[in-house]
Amino acid sequence: MGTDNDGNGTWVDLDRGIVSRKIFVDEDIYRTELERIFARAWLFVGHESQIPELGDFFLSRMGDESVILTRDPQSRTHVLLNTCRHRGMKVCRYDQGNTSVFTCPYHGWSYSTDGGLVKTPGDLYGVPQYRVGYREQLDKAEWGLIHAARMEVYKGTVWANWDASAPSFEEYLGGMRLYLDALLDARDGGEGGSEVLGGVVKWRMPCNWKFAAENFAWDTYHSPTTHKSAEIAGVGPGGEGQERHGSTHRNQARRFTSGLMAFPALGHATITGPPEVGAEAWFPEFPNDPVVAEYFKEVEARRRERQKGKVTVTPGNGSIFPNTSFHPWFPRTMVVWHPLGAGRTEAWRWYLVDRDAPWEVKDLLRRYYMRFSGPAGMVESDDMDNWVYATEASRGTIARRYPYHYGMGLGFAQPVENLPDAVTVKASFSEEGARAFYRRWSELMNDRR
Ligand code: FES
Ligand SMILES: [Fe+2]
Repeated sequence: MGTDNDGNGTWVDLDRGIVSRKIFVDEDIYRTELERIFARAWLFVGHESQIPELGDFFLSRMGDESVILTRDPQSRTHVLLNTCRHRGMKVCRYDQGNTSVFTCPYHGWSYSTDGGLVKTPGDLYGVPQYRVGYREQLDKAEWGLIHAARMEVYKGTVWANWDASAPSFEEYLGGMRLYLDALLDARDGGEGGSEVLGGVVKWRMPCNWKFAAENFAWDTYHSPTTHKSAEIAGVGPGGEGQERHGSTHRNQARRFTSGLMAFPALGHATITGPPEVGAEAWFPEFPNDPVVAEYFKEVEARRRERQKGKVTVTPGNGSIFPNTSFHPWFPRTMVVWHPLGAGRTEAWRWYLVDRDAPWEVKDLLRRYYMRFSGPAGMVESDDMDNWVYATEASRGTIARRYPYHYGMGLGFAQPVENLPDAVTVKASFSEEGARAFYRRWSELMNDRR
């Protein structure tokens, strides 16, 4: 692995900052990614607030496969592969709901929300013809649904892994945990407390999943060009022509000088600087919504108080390797780039709010989130055009002979005090985050274990 058979050298040469176009279009490379990356990495599956009651379930995906996130009668959470052990049919075909049993639509094998085959004898639940057909010789304990090898809940978010020998989720995150916290903690700095607002927005794009994942890991470079029209339209949270993230000019300037953090051994990266004492986070102004304005004023005061003298981070976009990205502030959202093939991606976007925020705040954010992101959002639709054309161009007979340039800021990354797995740069504009992503990608793709 590593050599491009077209004679273009290696697929990923990070010493020179060169990446072959082939990794974005080749189906063999895609299948290897499923084996060596998606079957070993921690993947985001859903949020606990989506399954609050006993028997609740949410249909999710891991890599190219369907999984069910469930809450069983003992309130335990499970991640189950959505395929019947008899002949493979999907045992759950609803996006979400509540049930005590998943009955396979093919021959009727039935599974509890903990994944086990239902033990009740008889034809309706359990295994039809268990007595007559199977002569009671089918070992029900052996033939339950497949569980993810590992599952961890982190501040309400559920993550799963098919590799039993994988490190813990927190180890996997390393120093990136601080940046994920900026997304998941309450706006007033209190730990956790988020919930999913509304449903999950899902859509398909004819592009390679890596273009999207790397974009969130480092790319503020595209913003002034790609998102210029959204900026002119002024789609910010406070309305009235406000900048799309709601930041004032002063804060925007701060953001762009705050740097970029990359975790080369782990593959994660985020568009903001190192942890600092009393790191600042701004809230937009809401001139037309007094309830919302007052709410965020109070929240900001509590946040300042709580974070006094503490080491914390300025929130910024990021990507957790391999395919979970987030906007931690305005908007506050997570997205998973599910791979469906070398040239097809299914995006799932979750929107978060503080659980105890007033209705007015949730409603304003809901409207802002919709006009910002998702397939109909003014900002995300700009991004999608880029990734779709980049994928198409990577397929071209002539174009594919020419690799991409990933050399911005090459050689300028420096280690970070107190975060041993991190490097940073003194500018926001650097492809260091993309290089961290492809370094990890390359390592795993070369690991044949
Ligand atoms: S495939 Fe599910 S019962 Fe046969
Ligand atoms: Fe963008």
